[in-house]
Amino acid sequence: MIYLDNEYLIGEGEIRFCYKHPLNDKLCIKIPRKETTRDYTEKELKYFNKLSKRSKVNFKFPFYTDFHHEISTNLGLGQVFDLVCDKTTNKVSKTLEYYLTQSDQISDDKLELGLLKLKKMMIKHKIFTRDLRSRNICCRIINDKNDIELVIVDGIGHRDFFPLADWFDFFSRKKVERTFDKWKFNCLNDQREYLKKQYSLLNL
Ligand SMILES: Nc1ncnc2c1ncn2[C@@H]1O[C@H](COP(=O)(O)OP(=O)(O)OP(=O)(O)O)[C@@H](O)[C@H]1O
Ligand SMILES: [Mg+2]
Repeated sequence: MIYLDNEYLIGEGEIRFCYKHPLNDKLCIKIPRKETTRDYTEKELKYFNKLSKRSKVNFKFPFYTDFHHEISTNLGLGQVFDLVCDKTTNKVSKTLEYYLTQSDQISDDKLELGLLKLKKMMIKHKIFTRDLRSRNICCRIINDKNDIELVIVDGIGHRDFFPLADWFDFFSRKKVERTFDKWKFNCLNDQREYLKKQYSLLNL
């Protein structure tokens, strides 16, 4: 049994809390909120199980956090995933939302390049996401020039009944392009406007 407390808490969302793994600094443990159904978690794990049959040797960089196993904790059953850390400091990477709204450490050019590379990798390796929000993408700083890699930490998968995008390049490209359009990632200022609207809806 692993013991988690606020000392290890990295972040939280509508579905779960995310903690650093106390015994392994390359991993994190996600604990579903009380109201999150087991069915929801299992659907996600099933998709990762399907992905695990893929070879990752051709990935230029790990552009999504992989699921490892489930683990028993004092807060209930948790799911162990890769943890995204900056290569320069070894600290947990901040999200793209953070760099778009609270920091100008990373230039727009670098963020745009990161998004372009992420999109290419998703198309090439047929990895899809239901929830490409900027809070679900971590921005890993890889060197002192503040070059970055964007890594999807949440929302991997799709629920298409006929998964044409899994089978045919043409449909994979269209699907990823639709995702980028839907979540306003083709232009950073559109994304910033979108975030502003979301915040004002939440009265933040
Ligand atoms: N693998 C990871 N590495 C680093 N930080 C992470 C990782 N996974 C999650 N985080 C941080 O924790 C936050 C919450 O995690 P996550 O997105 O998995 O929760 P969620 O409840 O599924 O989110 P949502 O509300 O988007 O559905 C993220 O926004 C991010 O800041
Ligand atoms: Mg999330």
